[in-house]
Amino acid sequence: MPAPTLIQLDRPDPAAIRAELLEGIAAHPARTAPKYLYDALGSRLFAAITELPEYYPTRTEAAIFARHGAEMAAARPAGATTLVDLGAGNCEKAARLFQPFGVERYVAVDISVSYLEDSLALLARRYPGITLVGVGTDFSGRLHLPPAAGAGPRLLFYPGSSIGNFTPAEALGFLRQVHATSQGGGLLIGVDLVKPVTVLEPAYDDPLGVTAAFNRNLLRHINRLAGTDFRLQDWRHVAFFNAAESRIEMHLEALGALTVRWADGERSFVRGERIHTENSYKWQPGDFAALLGEAGFRPPRQWTDAQGWFALFMAQA
Ligand code: AVJ
Repeated sequence: MPAPTLIQLDRPDPAAIRAELLEGIAAHPARTAPKYLYDALGSRLFAAITELPEYYPTRTEAAIFARHGAEMAAARPAGATTLVDLGAGNCEKAARLFQPFGVERYVAVDISVSYLEDSLALLARRYPGITLVGVGTDFSGRLHLPPAAGAGPRLLFYPGSSIGNFTPAEALGFLRQVHATSQGGGLLIGVDLVKPVTVLEPAYDDPLGVTAAFNRNLLRHINRLAGTDFRLQDWRHVAFFNAAESRIEMHLEALGALTVRWADGERSFVRGERIHTENSYKWQPGDFAALLGEAGFRPPRQWTDAQGWFALFMAQA
């Protein structure tokens, strides 16, 4: 049984991370990149979110796979026996494709290769015939893969509507890189769709407070990464649908006037002032299909659930 190949491409630089975070905190309005929501506890809180009755995306996407998986497999790009999983985490969603999609090489990509080690070791035992590669890279900036990702056409897999964190302009730039990276293969992507605000908002502001904990935990992570002195009890979770921008916005709102301090600076907030912590864009199916076309893909196949809440698109390069 060959051991998985593990490669860390760009090692996260603590000084650069600190500088980026402090620039966002000092800005007006204050903002932080959504990737900082995922420290060890944040990742567990996100996993808990996916179990909430109000958070429909994960289970709706799974239901679409259960119902249409065979059709998706039949529509996969010819010769693309390499599966590249963007934001692989525990590799669970991709592993379900191995058999039906005839995968021969699996390339799991995540921000840090250490997140992938255990999952890939388990996969190596279950799938001794598949070549396994783990790549640590922050592809939210630039997507590039090492030679170990193999030559020839690849199917890139980007489930869960993670694309929703990008603005439409950023999403276009990202999809163009995906198109190039597929080397003549294609893309299978999960996209969350516009739906009534009465469904959208509880998914991001659940009555149990798990999403609030997920958002507020960001402040502890920032304190560790940037040396700030945020106090969690001073901040409340805010989430709402911005219809003009077609996105859920998450913010942290100061409960009173306060000052956050760090080694060589500080930032004061008035009561009610917010830090913008995440956007989660919701697409119209036709607009997303057009975006794929602009990025260079052929007209996609698409599958959705009965309520039209979530869609999977398969696009050939
Ligand atoms: C992981 C980006 C797809 O936008 O639904 C869930 C993150 N934030 N609840 C999403 C998230 C708050 C999630 N994505």
